[in-house]
Amino acid sequence: MTSVPQVTRHASYGIDAPLVATAFAMMAAGFLGAGVVAFALASSAGWGLLALGIFMAAQCGLCLYVSRRGKFAVWAELLDELRLRGDERAVDLGCGRGAVLIAAARRLPRGRVDGVDLWRSIDQSGNDITATTRNAVAEGVSDRIQLHTADITRLPFSDNTFDLVLSSLAIHNIPTPDGRAAAVREAIRVLRPGGRLVVADIFKVGEYVPALEAAGAQAVTVRPLGWRMWWGSPFVATRAVTASK
Ligand SMILES: C[S@@+](CC[C@H](N)C(=O)[O-])C[C@H]1O[C@@H](n2cnc3c(N)ncnc32)[C@H](O)[C@@H]1O
Repeated sequence: MTSVPQVTRHASYGIDAPLVATAFAMMAAGFLGAGVVAFALASSAGWGLLALGIFMAAQCGLCLYVSRRGKFAVWAELLDELRLRGDERAVDLGCGRGAVLIAAARRLPRGRVDGVDLWRSIDQSGNDITATTRNAVAEGVSDRIQLHTADITRLPFSDNTFDLVLSSLAIHNIPTPDGRAAAVREAIRVLRPGGRLVVADIFKVGEYVPALEAAGAQAVTVRPLGWRMWWGSPFVATRAVTASK
């Protein structure tokens, strides 16, 4: 297993689903403002509006925490659990600004990590291949990272290329069940026999298990990743899917 230095974050990884965090912040401001007005008018609605404002502010705060801290801590544990040798070849599907891509590259000093993305800024603020490149340089791993602009439902790699397929919070963004199943099939197609897959995602994880099994994945497991990856509340929890080929 490769020893990994304490993570120091020199890079800037943006905010996931920035419109959601903004909507929570605006609703919090609206309810809190209305609560103040209600108190000024001696209306009995004041306490209810205040409670709603605090609830929305808490959801906004939790979303920001997950984007900036929680996701990094959880993925550090997921990657450590893999007990990597350090020379594996990995791919991060929907890598965005590189949170998982770069964490993996830090653990693979003799390996290589490919990142695939369409760089959609609706899914992550400031999402751009140049931002990911800058982050890889800032984190000192650019020598072992290669980025590709491509759709994860049609990967630009041969069969059986990777020892490790990773994906964080990306596949649920594909709008159709067929598209999500195609991404899962592609993930298994590019994995080498004996290779391992780790996907962390929200909402659609239940679909991935039958798609993985149909694509020939072995030992498929699903588990919750806990409050550090709750997107505002336990109703939008992240789960990890692991499998091998
Ligand atoms: C919420 S961001 C997560 C980024 C990164 N994995 C992380 O955890 O920080 C979702 C990412 O999936 C990418 N994405 C969404 N649909 C995609 C598709 N069909 N093909 C490639 N990338 C996609 C977005 O551009 C975005 O970078």
